[in-house]
Amino acid sequence: MADLPRHTRAEVASKKGKNGAPLWVIYKDSVYDVTKYVDEHPAGPDILIDEGGKDVSKTFEEAGHSADAYTILAKYKIGELVEEEKHYDANGKKKKRVVAAEPEGESRGCLSRVTCGLLG
Ligand code: HEM
Repeated sequence: MADLPRHTRAEVASKKGKNGAPLWVIYKDSVYDVTKYVDEHPAGPDILIDEGGKDVSKTFEEAGHSADAYTILAKYKIGELVEEEKHYDANGKKKKRVVAAEPEGESRGCLSRVTCGLLG
């Protein structure tokens, strides 16, 4: 399959869909242009416009959408997030948050490693 265009979260965030402007959402690292679907949304356009430019991975599932809704969503896919902004791994599992490794010498201010650990 040909590589899909890559987008940043900031780019998606700028497509909020107000007043008929493009409305993009992110669902599990994929980017969807649902501009043309807004007026067809069975629960009304407003609920979708409220989510314009956002990551709807949670809200889309919480709304209890049917299998049909997922099929419709798939039709509007226009791309994917850039690799470094993805939240899911290749198996579709949510990635653990990666905490940057502490650079050498950074912890000198702490009494001990244990204390630093406790204080977070
Ligand atoms: C982005 C693309 C979306 C598509 C393609 C879509 C599609 C649909 C469809 C087909 C239905 C009819 C019921 C069903 O088949 O599940 C529906 C209902 C609904 N959607 Fe969406 N939806 C989208 C986004 C959203 C978002 C982001 C939200 C939440 C914030 C949302 C909230 C709802 C709610 C609350 C209902 C009514 C559920 C009910 O009472 O039956 N939808 N949507």
